[in-house]
Amino acid sequence: MPKISVVGAGNVGASAALYAAEAELGDVMLVDIMEGVAKGKALDLLEAGPIRGYDAHVEGSGDIRAVAGSDLIIVTAGLPRKPGMSRLDLLKANADIIRGVAEAIRDHAPKAIVITVTNPLDVMTYLLYRITGFPRERVIGMAGVLDSSRFRTFLADEIGVSVEDVQAMVLGGHGDTMVPLLRYSTVSGIPVERFIPAERLAEIVQRTRDGGAEIVKLLQTGSAFYAPAASAVQMAESILRDKKRLLPVAAYLDGEYGLRDLYLGVPAILGSGGMETIVQLELSPEEKSALARSAEEVRKGISDLALEPATR
Ligand SMILES: NC(=O)c1ccc[n+]([C@@H]2O[C@H](COP(=O)([O-])OP(=O)(O)OC[C@H]3O[C@@H](n4cnc5c(N)ncnc54)[C@H](O)[C@@H]3O)[C@@H](O)[C@H]2O)c1
Repeated sequence: MPKISVVGAGNVGASAALYAAEAELGDVMLVDIMEGVAKGKALDLLEAGPIRGYDAHVEGSGDIRAVAGSDLIIVTAGLPRKPGMSRLDLLKANADIIRGVAEAIRDHAPKAIVITVTNPLDVMTYLLYRITGFPRERVIGMAGVLDSSRFRTFLADEIGVSVEDVQAMVLGGHGDTMVPLLRYSTVSGIPVERFIPAERLAEIVQRTRDGGAEIVKLLQTGSAFYAPAASAVQMAESILRDKKRLLPVAAYLDGEYGLRDLYLGVPAILGSGGMETIVQLELSPEEKSALARSAEEVRKGISDLALEPATR
């Protein structure tokens, strides 16, 4: 069995551990600075196995060195934004957490493929890439699968068709600056624009951009976790089972889409090598400028990290 570590046993982490165990993707190690939370949730998940019929081992630890020997690591450790906290405060707090986690992964799990979930997503994934020194194939971020899943949900609901038949592709940063590609969003191959008038489609795009905030407003005490966890596990499955799924992921760009030295959402093929190929699409002038705006936002976050210039 492959070893999957999930760092951060909070809402997203514990749900990812559950989905990974249910899919029997591997044995799961749940790690959290709150040792009891990691161990308690792991034991609880293990005890659900006989009922749910999964045969994965689930273990918890308060020691980050427990990631040793992992084939794949999902990083969800981080603080949620609290009232009164600025975007920059959150970025700095989560960067401190990700630095420590990345150093531990570099030292104890040097062969792992890493999927980051912690926000601000594109910036934290970049930080993890820089600190581990891993090749870009082995450090990817989860955002596009979630954004496109939200988009697919709303489209299916609007058109009155099964979500199974709705495909969508989004580019760009997570959330506000997401760039949906309507031409590539279809119902069984038929562009969604054939089913939904432009003004209504624009509203659905906006609801998708605000998808995270919509859930925060409802929950009051936290942010979305089932769909985010399911998204990270879908990426993990494509890698561990070498399925070569083509999914929107945050990938390190090295000239693709005319951009360099940042993470941004693009379509990519995920297989046993991790992020194996970035698929480059022809973009319209509007899509290009939306992507450039998105990249600008991410660059701002990266400069807030105040890292030494990249040496590779
Ligand atoms: N990329 C996305 O689309 C997406 C979607 C949802 C959530 N998120 C992000 O994922 C992160 C986790 O969200 P959540 O709802 O699970 O939060 P949560 O507060 O429920 O869980 C976070 C966990 O991280 C743990 N933690 C903190 N520092 C740690 C460290 N150094 N080592 C190990 N564990 C540590 C905490 O103890 C806590 O249990 C947040 O940053 C959130 O914004 C991203």
